[in-house]
Amino acid sequence: MRRLLVASIAALGLAGAFAHSGGNDNLIRRRKTLGFGPVHPHAVYHAEPAYSSSSFVGANSDPYEVAQRFVEEITRDSSPASSFVIRKDSYTDKSTGVTHIYVRQYMHGIEVADGDINLNVKDGVVLSYGDSFYRGAEQDPFIPALARGLPDVHTEHCVSLFNELETRAIQIEELVTNEELYSTQGDQVALGRSDPSAIADEVYGDLPYLFDWNCAHVQTPFVMSYHPAFSGQEDSFGDPTRALLQFMIAATPNEKLAQKLQVNPSEYLDKMQSTWETHFVGGHGTISATVDNVPDAVSPVKAKAAFVQVPNGDSTSLELVWKFEVEMEDNWYEAAVSAALPHRIVSVVDWASDSPMPVAPIPPTEHKPGLYKVFAWGVNDPTVGNRSDEKENFDRAASPAGWHSLPYANDPLMLATRVKSGPKGETFRNTTTTWGNNVFAHENWDGRNDWMYNYRPDAGKEMVFDYPYDPQVTDRTDALDEAKKHINATVTQLFYTANLIHDLYYRYGFDEVSGNFQQHNFGRGGEENDAVITNAQDGSGYNNANFMTPPDGQNGRCRMYLWNTAMPYRDGDMEAGIVIHEYSHGLSTRLTGGPANSGCLGWGESGGMGEGWGDFLATTIRSTKKYSDYAMGAWAANRPTGIRNYMYSLNTTINPSTYKTLDKPGYWGVHAIGEVWAELLWVVSQRLISKYGFVDTLFPPEPLENGTIPEGDFYRPAEFTEAGVRKPLIPKHGNSLIVQLVINAMKLQPCRPSFFDARDAIISADQILTGGENHCDLWVAFAERGLGPDASVEGRTPWGGGVRTNDFDVPTKCKSSQ
Ligand SMILES: *[C@@H]1O[C@H](CO)[C@@H](O)[C@H](O)[C@H]1NC(C)=O
Ligand SMILES: *[C@@H]1O[C@H](CO)[C@@H](O)[C@H](O)[C@H]1NC(C)=O
Ligand SMILES: *[C@@H]1O[C@H](CO)[C@@H](O)[C@H](O)[C@H]1NC(C)=O
Ligand SMILES: *[C@@H]1O[C@H](CO)[C@@H](O)[C@H](O)[C@H]1NC(C)=O
Ligand SMILES: *[C@@H]1O[C@H](CO)[C@@H](O)[C@H](O)[C@H]1NC(C)=O
Repeated sequence: MRRLLVASIAALGLAGAFAHSGGNDNLIRRRKTLGFGPVHPHAVYHAEPAYSSSSFVGANSDPYEVAQRFVEEITRDSSPASSFVIRKDSYTDKSTGVTHIYVRQYMHGIEVADGDINLNVKDGVVLSYGDSFYRGAEQDPFIPALARGLPDVHTEHCVSLFNELETRAIQIEELVTNEELYSTQGDQVALGRSDPSAIADEVYGDLPYLFDWNCAHVQTPFVMSYHPAFSGQEDSFGDPTRALLQFMIAATPNEKLAQKLQVNPSEYLDKMQSTWETHFVGGHGTISATVDNVPDAVSPVKAKAAFVQVPNGDSTSLELVWKFEVEMEDNWYEAAVSAALPHRIVSVVDWASDSPMPVAPIPPTEHKPGLYKVFAWGVNDPTVGNRSDEKENFDRAASPAGWHSLPYANDPLMLATRVKSGPKGETFRNTTTTWGNNVFAHENWDGRNDWMYNYRPDAGKEMVFDYPYDPQVTDRTDALDEAKKHINATVTQLFYTANLIHDLYYRYGFDEVSGNFQQHNFGRGGEENDAVITNAQDGSGYNNANFMTPPDGQNGRCRMYLWNTAMPYRDGDMEAGIVIHEYSHGLSTRLTGGPANSGCLGWGESGGMGEGWGDFLATTIRSTKKYSDYAMGAWAANRPTGIRNYMYSLNTTINPSTYKTLDKPGYWGVHAIGEVWAELLWVVSQRLISKYGFVDTLFPPEPLENGTIPEGDFYRPAEFTEAGVRKPLIPKHGNSLIVQLVINAMKLQPCRPSFFDARDAIISADQILTGGENHCDLWVAFAERGLGPDASVEGRTPWGGGVRTNDFDVPTKCKSSQ
């Protein structure tokens, strides 16, 4: 069987043909991304309030104490060697009053990297919780894996992989024959309908890498000798470099390098140097190392010993792994690789994705406000409107110091030059470039990782960012230079759009404590020094865009590309929908599973929804009172129906997607999965809009001097509790309400959510915000596209497989709403 498969893969030109080079002007790196991991058959999300004898300790009790007792209770039957800690990135949402608590499991003091409990607590009650804790027998990390007698997951894994590959090979052949599929790769449109390698990309997703690495090598084991990883002492936990090298072979997009690593591993291993750090605090251990000189990594790799769960029937077993954080040119991986031979990759998440509350009194902004010639907020792309003069209309709650001011202490350029304060001892620096507290924007024609000293426009004292934008039709050979002539205008646009997204999401609750992107947090909690680095006209590719989201406290990175789909070239920076889609990866990744966990939306349905939220939010932001269908990326891709299979539409002829669509050929990749999720949300949002109407601006009114947010025509009249405390403000209109519910739900849902979990979290967010006023509307809308209460999936695989059943029915109490 395997021969046949390999033959059919080769026949499709698949091996090594994963990136489309977008043009001849520039040598494009082969782009590759890995994302997979085990399913957790035992993981649950309880969306209904959970009362338990010991957890309900009164409405005024400390939510952390409630959580502590609750977790003790639900883990009472676990092995005595299992323990847990409440993570420091837990927080209370200022608007809803819900405390989002993230709990991590430990086994014999070693972290279980995917043993997560997230609890949503309010007034002493656990409103909902997700739980993927390991419940099996104790496992001692100091006893070698072989002696522990783990099931041979390696073989099982390969068998299911072979089966899945075969299914997909058949699908590809059908697709190529039927010429049915508009294929997308990354956020990239595959030009030409039946380009087999593009279709193969979409259908195979990450599988060939997995196949190639984890299973092909079963037959031809890696040349390394068995490393005695464990000898009973904590400091001889083994050496992460071999496991890391094995990961790099799979991860590097450079095939020549991958070969060299396999032919002569010791040459590279000798150069890799580990610096060890081992702490045991309160019985919880961190055995970690920093590894320098890792081939193809752009910074030292962090390595940490941990357990991860691998499926074992209906439950899981623990496998000891090295957990790596690997920053590369085009990827930023969190990978778990078996500590013992064979060093298989158990899971890998690429942090790169292709694609209202009382506030503290606001300090006045000091600097002269910026003026920008841009496509104004709401103008999605150049087909919708012309550029206009727009002020630095920052939101005072979201960006108290404006977009061009940040403390010397948080400014990477000042840190590099050791300037600690202004000439008169000022702590804040005013900038005259596209450099500020939320966003750093600049060109990146080289397509490399350097960014600090890249070119960015300087508007001088007057702060007028007014630059021409009139790209001309040229010969193809001159098209790139022609695009580059407009860098001032495109960087200005990128800076403007990204700052407004920051401000908008802030007002719906993506704030400092929940992990937003800012250099300075104004004393409002959360980790600092993580503004978004945005690259305009990034030279590492064409026809795409991507966003890397490391955990809170490390800069997000957004790369926007040129599109060679038309003459003159189209610049992704000029299409707001693409920038919003990308930034939304940062939003959903930081909010799901907590600010410090960037590994919750890595693959399968979760990874797909990571794409879907971006499409949905971009589409909602551009939509107007008069209903219309919308496409994603239509201008950049130069295709009226955009880069997805269908436009977002209520009309089932135009967009027939239902939950079961996920079973179809071509729906293995995260973008296709995301498209289905975004369509579901679009149907839900239109139902709320028909109930509550539409508001023209999604920006809530600015807070008053004393920090109170006026209701304006934006929120319903404020309500107060018996104690006189103002209840959370509820957006009055359908479009603002759905944005609020979707963002609140991201905070409620568990790590690695399924479609069901994300749906239940939205319904639960409505319960918390409005007391469940829209319970039936939400069910009716989800059920319209098959995601009713009895929708189900059998035999789900980590790669998006499984057989789904639609449910178009609604809960009994909602029948009359249909
Ligand atoms: C920033 O601008 C304001 C107002 O123009 C000025 O008062 C302040 O001193 C400036 N800060 C620095 C460090 O120059
Ligand atoms: C831009 O302005 C020109 C000239 O006023 C006008 O003809 C054109 O329709 C405008 N374009 C859009 C997309 O509004
Ligand atoms: C960008 O603007 C500056 C003036 O602010 C100008 O000197 C420079 O030539 C412009 N760059 C391009 C490529 O036009
Ligand atoms: C749905 O779209 C199809 C195809 O464009 C069109 O023929 C049909 O009239 C539309 N239905 C509704 C209800 O608008
Ligand atoms: C804030 O100011 C507004 C308007 O001046 C006032 O109505 C409101 O009561 C004040 N709120 C607080 C909490 O002081």
